[in-house]
Amino acid sequence: MNIDGRPWRTIWLEEGGRSIGVIDQTLLPHRFVTRSLTTLEQAAEAISTMVVRGAPLIGVTGAYGLMLALQDDPSDASLAAAFARLNATRPTAVNLRWALERVRDRVAPLAPEQRAAAARAEAGAIVEEDVAMCEAIGDLGLALFQQLAEARPPERRGEPLNVLTHCNAGWLATVDWGTALAPIYKAHRSGLAIHVWVDETRPRNQGASLTAFELGCEGVPHTVIVDNAGGHLMQHGRVDAVIVGTDRTTRSGDVCNKIGTYLKALAAHDNGVPFYVALPASTIDWTIADGVAEIPIEARSPEEVTRIAGKPAGGEPTSVQLVPDGSEGFNPAFDVTPARLVTALITERGVAPASEEGLQALYAGS
Ligand code: MRU
Repeated sequence: MNIDGRPWRTIWLEEGGRSIGVIDQTLLPHRFVTRSLTTLEQAAEAISTMVVRGAPLIGVTGAYGLMLALQDDPSDASLAAAFARLNATRPTAVNLRWALERVRDRVAPLAPEQRAAAARAEAGAIVEEDVAMCEAIGDLGLALFQQLAEARPPERRGEPLNVLTHCNAGWLATVDWGTALAPIYKAHRSGLAIHVWVDETRPRNQGASLTAFELGCEGVPHTVIVDNAGGHLMQHGRVDAVIVGTDRTTRSGDVCNKIGTYLKALAAHDNGVPFYVALPASTIDWTIADGVAEIPIEARSPEEVTRIAGKPAGGEPTSVQLVPDGSEGFNPAFDVTPARLVTALITERGVAPASEEGLQALYAGS
């Protein structure tokens, strides 16, 4: 996708593969800075500190992290230690484990001297597949949006389609296109009038900082709202659909995504607003069925709740304390939306009911 008219991906190889380049997402939207990651430890740190974030991009960074480790030391012990280090960085997004297992299983049978090159090739394949899957999600989601736009009463057909999204499931969260935002970009580029309500997404404000940044770069009309505004907007008919991404989807269609997603799904259900979840196959965890009971929810630093980052007028980006001295914070980073609240899953293979049967119909035998 474009920044100042120049196409970017979120991750790329540098120096013939000696290092990987990424955009430092902790500094957006106020500063656009790229970073080079040259070691396993730097890749692991980039994931934990959310220099890179979003389930698919975490997976890709993990895959390249294994490559970096194997370039330094291709032994069995190094491979096992790198896998464990990277896999422990963020526990909720299953894309990380999926990508690490894929690279490990590809390189482990090889002679040590062949492993780094094989890891680079496998990570590169994951990258290209991610782009293709996200673009396919965009095309399928666009068809849904077109149906929604046409189904509106005649007096509302001249208005843009109003879509609400939570967190950032855009191109910054993937390699390119995004998951939940891909249909929005496709709609905008196809000439379908669309407007996005962007949940700010406390505590880290991925909506206000990253989704708004992305949409602005692509010229998509959008409005940032506080996380608590969605229910009110839905009650007043100002949301035609909700679309979000996911960090892990169980085989029965439960969806784990950024904290606060569940509340949006409840409000959508209560107001008859369709609630769509966009995901590539790499986000499905076939090993579990009950999302609430079985998905590990990352607990991040309470400081993300008790403080907030911003940029004073005319000043430099900074962080300030929000709460009284001594008040504690609690920071579960994700929640689970049960399948019964999800209108449909939009995957690269098609649109399916959020159920075991729905997912099986798309993926059985693959
Ligand atoms: O904590 P983050 O910023 O990594 O959380 C990201 C999300 O919750 C996204 O919605 C999810 O990873 C899907 S990304 C296509």
